[in-house]
Amino acid sequence: MPRKILLDCDPGHDDAVALLLAWGSPEIELVGVTTVAGNQTLEKVTRNALAVATVAGIIGVPFAAGCARPLVRDVETAPDIHGDSGLDGPVLPEPAFELDPRHAVDLIIDTVMAAEPGEITLVPTGALTNIALAARKEPRVVERVREVVLMGGGYSVGNWSAVAEFNIVIDPEAAHIVFSEKWPVTMVGLDLTHQALATPEVERAIAEVGTSPARFVVELMDFFRESYRHAQGFEHPPVHDPCAVAYVIDPDVMTTRRAPLTVELTGTHTLGMTVADFRAAPGPGVTTQVAVDLDTERFWGLVVDALRRIGEPPR
Ligand code: BDR
Ligand code: CA
Repeated sequence: MPRKILLDCDPGHDDAVALLLAWGSPEIELVGVTTVAGNQTLEKVTRNALAVATVAGIIGVPFAAGCARPLVRDVETAPDIHGDSGLDGPVLPEPAFELDPRHAVDLIIDTVMAAEPGEITLVPTGALTNIALAARKEPRVVERVREVVLMGGGYSVGNWSAVAEFNIVIDPEAAHIVFSEKWPVTMVGLDLTHQALATPEVERAIAEVGTSPARFVVELMDFFRESYRHAQGFEHPPVHDPCAVAYVIDPDVMTTRRAPLTVELTGTHTLGMTVADFRAAPGPGVTTQVAVDLDTERFWGLVVDALRRIGEPPR
């Protein structure tokens, strides 16, 4: 039985790869895609999500736009990493289909409440604004969701500050809500995703797939490499978001460690830091875990296989 996931994202180069990985993997049934402001404005990331879906020929999946700003703070975007469009590099096609009329928060709630308890996994790869609001608007989603597997945070490293990661620091109050609820949360943070580097060998393997979605990914990665070189001093770009999807497809693709997790909401230099408490063996009430080590070969194998399965969508 494929795992049903709802992807909440802000495409974003790595969000785009996450979407393609989810769509091209038989272990996953993509039941919805929702967008949230982050890498770019809500309008831009929503358009990008529809453009990626058009490139990959995604059909029969509702896409809904969500929150245009964080719960408390002003919008912060990442043009230095993702460009002015939020998905700079390839030429983006005109979206071939329409958005679902519902707000993302309502699509999330409707999807979870209509499914059997334990059926839906939420995979957020952007700020946690929509997910936090869904938990507040309809608290029963918390007990009905199977688990939340999110890309964000890091227990030993930051990227938007010395200690904080972008998705968490732009809406730390939302992250606080998601980490405090009693659903199982897997934090696939920078400790893990900095191992998912799109090296030239990886790009070659993707290029060899030879289809237009694969070429699209290569163009995304070329832009991403330059951004990460200039903005963050990386030789090859870390492709964060598909790591969370990969964990749902194949939990053995990474190791994890259970630990209580909190988010710093008040620190002068540490706002948005995700604090994992590794001091003692976690008690039975601990429902959070962090990702530690990635099997990189297996991970990129999943991405390449997904692109092969997507093939050349009809125009
Ligand atoms: C995260 O921030 C965004 O720029 C990426 O899409 C990813 O979700 C990495 O910190
Ligand atoms: Ca993202």
